[in-house]
Amino acid sequence: MPDKEQINKEKEEFIALLRQSEREDEQDVDYLLEDLEEWGFFKAPASRSKHNCFEGGLVHHSLNVCKMALLIREQVLAERPDLESLLPRSSVIVASLLHDVCKSNIYQRVVRKQKNEVGIWESYETYNIDYTALPLGHGEKSVIMLLRSGFELTEDEILAIRWHMAAWDLSLHSQEMVGSLNKASEKSPLVSLIQAADQMAANLMERKMM
Ligand SMILES: [Fe+2]
Ligand SMILES: [Fe+2]
Repeated sequence: MPDKEQINKEKEEFIALLRQSEREDEQDVDYLLEDLEEWGFFKAPASRSKHNCFEGGLVHHSLNVCKMALLIREQVLAERPDLESLLPRSSVIVASLLHDVCKSNIYQRVVRKQKNEVGIWESYETYNIDYTALPLGHGEKSVIMLLRSGFELTEDEILAIRWHMAAWDLSLHSQEMVGSLNKASEKSPLVSLIQAADQMAANLMERKMM
């Protein structure tokens, strides 16, 4: 679990990368940073129990997704230089750093008790999940939060953030949803790139192995 110094360092790293997002209005980043602070983004965990379940875990995860996404971009462009205009570095940074802002306001720290190995109750800190604030889903909630903050997003960035979970949070009974996901992947290579980076960060870099 990172200490305060490490948490602050990663927050600074996140901000420095976000400032490379090349928005038309540079102030977009300043306003968004204020909102991220207000939403609790910099203190939130990335999950309650699966990966990065600690203060600052969401920033740590977002940075991992960004690093992975930039690496994948390099490899893809080495093979497919024709995709360069469809995978601008700034869009890879924006979509990866901001894909999970929907998680900023759903975790609350609570203290619970559990028995230790000799049967004595001990307190431990964990998180409750509460979807009351803006209950809109996942990727779509991130997009809406960012747009409401006045942050400019390209269509590819919107698609990549919206569909970063691929089919994991999707009702496969909905033809419209499945059709939209497939079309988004066909239209924008950024969608597949962010999906892959998110999976690799969460499942390979962050999850405890059994
Ligand atoms: Fe997510
Ligand atoms: Fe994620």
